[in-house]
Order: sequence, then structure tokens, then C-alpha cells
Amino acid sequence: CNVVVLISGSGSNLQALIDDLGAGDSPARIQAVLSNRADAYGLERAKAAGIATELLDHKAFADREAFDAALIARIDAHQPDLVVLAGFMRILTPGFVRHYQGRLLNIHPSLLPKYKGLHTHQRALEAGDAEHGCSVHFVTEELDGGPLVVQAVVPVNVNDTAESLAQRVHVQEHRIYPLAVRWFAAGRLQLGDAGAILDSEPL
Ligand code: GRF
Repeated sequence: CNVVVLISGSGSNLQALIDDLGAGDSPARIQAVLSNRADAYGLERAKAAGIATELLDHKAFADREAFDAALIARIDAHQPDLVVLAGFMRILTPGFVRHYQGRLLNIHPSLLPKYKGLHTHQRALEAGDAEHGCSVHFVTEELDGGPLVVQAVVPVNVNDTAESLAQRVHVQEHRIYPLAVRWFAAGRLQLGDAGAILDSEPL
């Protein structure tokens, strides 16, 4: 299973994927890592692992459509079976999402459908939630709204700050994202009409 990973930042989820999928038994192989930002530390992580990297600066394009068209061309040069968004901080056009329908995954730092968008840890704290967490989902045209694949729950402590909570959520992100990618690569996970399907059972 050929995987292309898209990043914009630190790439700690990318690192978790590199570490897990680099194992001999892995059904998935990361062909390339693309970033829209030159300063994304994840690019260094990819290079250190001997993975091809590409930079596509969205600021060099007139609009989202033009950027996404160029992005599709770059991604498809690697003939991916799966495209993985790992902290890719750009909203994708409907055309892009449709093009990768059923083979585009994202990870989001909340228990979706709660807290779509940004500042999820702060919002969970302000709401007084007892539990917070992260979600892997198939990407559809609704931002952070596609069918869920797997979630991990993190208890919220009374003395948590957004940073301390984010740190514990990250640990769980690094556990569930490789899991979801392995399921997909092994042919166990797909997007059906009514949602995600794991081992022919609706999730
Ligand atoms: C993660 O919190 C992920 O859930 C969100 O962006 C962040 C990326 O972190 N989509 P990293 O670059 O993988 O460290």
C-alpha cells in the first residue's frame, strides 16, 4: 500500500507513522512527504528516514483551486493508495476531497463530532469536559466531519492546561494513527455509503 503523507508542522504523527510502518511486517510504505511550509520540522524527520520530500508553498498560487490542482499532481506522481493528513493545516477544496474519496484520512485532536476546527484542547477545558481525546476519520467535504475510524479517550485532570492535555492527547494520536493506516493497508478498512467499515462491519 503506497502512502503519501501531507504535513505543515512538527510532524510528530508523521514520526509515529515512520516508526510503526518502518517495521518489517508493515503492509504500508510511505512513498513521499509533502509540506506546504518550508519550515515544517516534519520534512527533517522524513529526510532522516530516507523518505522523499516535496515542498509546495500555497502562497505561490492564486487561489485554493490552483493550489489543490498542483497538490493533486504532486501526490499522484507517487501513485498513492492512501493519502494521510498529519497536521496539514490547509482547508482542502471539494474537488480535492472527491478525487481522494475513500483513500484520504485525517487525525483531529478531539472526540469528534465535538470541537471541529482549532483550539480543541482549550475548548474541552472551558466546557469542563471529563474526557477529551482524538479521532481518525475519512475526509469528506465537511471540515472534520467525515466518518469516524477510531478514537482514543483521554481523561481530563483538574489541573490540566491546554498544553498538558494536548501532550497526553498526542501520545494517543501516535498510537491510533498507525493503527488506522495499518488497517487500511491490510484491506480491512474502507469507506462505505453509510460510513467507515472495518472487517466488513460498520463502525
Ligand atoms: C495534531 O494534533 C493533529 O491531531 C492535528 O494537527 C496536529 C499535528 O501535530 N491535525 P504533528 O505535526 O503531527 O506533531
